[in-house]
Amino acid sequence: MSTKLTNLKLKIWRQAGPDDAGRFETYEIPEISDEASFLEMLDILNERLIEQGDEAIVFDHDCREGICGTCSLMINGQAHGPQRASATCQLHMRTFNSGDEIVIEPWRARAFPIIKDLMVDRAAFDRIVESGGFISAPTGGAPDANLTPIPKPVADAAMDAAACIGCGACVAACPNGAASLFTSAKLSHLNRLPQGQAERFRRTEAMVDTMDDYFGSCTNHGECQAACPKEISIDMIALMNSDYRKAKFKNRKNLSRI
Ligand code: FES
Repeated sequence: MSTKLTNLKLKIWRQAGPDDAGRFETYEIPEISDEASFLEMLDILNERLIEQGDEAIVFDHDCREGICGTCSLMINGQAHGPQRASATCQLHMRTFNSGDEIVIEPWRARAFPIIKDLMVDRAAFDRIVESGGFISAPTGGAPDANLTPIPKPVADAAMDAAACIGCGACVAACPNGAASLFTSAKLSHLNRLPQGQAERFRRTEAMVDTMDDYFGSCTNHGECQAACPKEISIDMIALMNSDYRKAKFKNRKNLSRI
């Protein structure tokens, strides 16, 4: 049987636009079911705000299943809230106690400017992917999946990297605002596989250089790994750094095809 959480107090960041200074506003929200998801709780709050003639709170969401990575909220100072290995949309109100005060903020990072309220612009991630995200090899039609044998540990490592949903929690949690976990995950899921070898070093140099244009530097705090809803390992960053060093040599010497 569902129970109700009463007298939840929400302190929510409201900001009219990118140039507004922004401020916290406090909302009392009674009678929320502990079965509601965190985003459903915000939906209910928005319905109540609209009913009383106030402006709804802007927040990002799409799949609500932990897949798309858009539901990016800092909850009580933790990216995606207190539940490990979960996106905000997978968080339920039973995680909280009646009477709790919950502070809800957008991602705080120079590379993710606030669009409005809790929504940020994560286009800097797109710039990284764009800079490396194509191949120049003519591939023809889709080959049979079993034509290229891939050892199981390699396939598993590539799949672990491909789990990244690009939510930006790694950047928001990092004291330097670094995007090394995101970039290394995107690189690792291609660079580990045989099909990713042809462009490996060109891709690595381009994506890391683009990352450096927008984001801070990694100094191995490890907050990114702790905040990642997909538990992507910072081992990926070590692999990226190793490939980047090789890329700097191979690309300079124009030996990337050797
Ligand atoms: S809404 Fe898609 S991951 Fe949360």
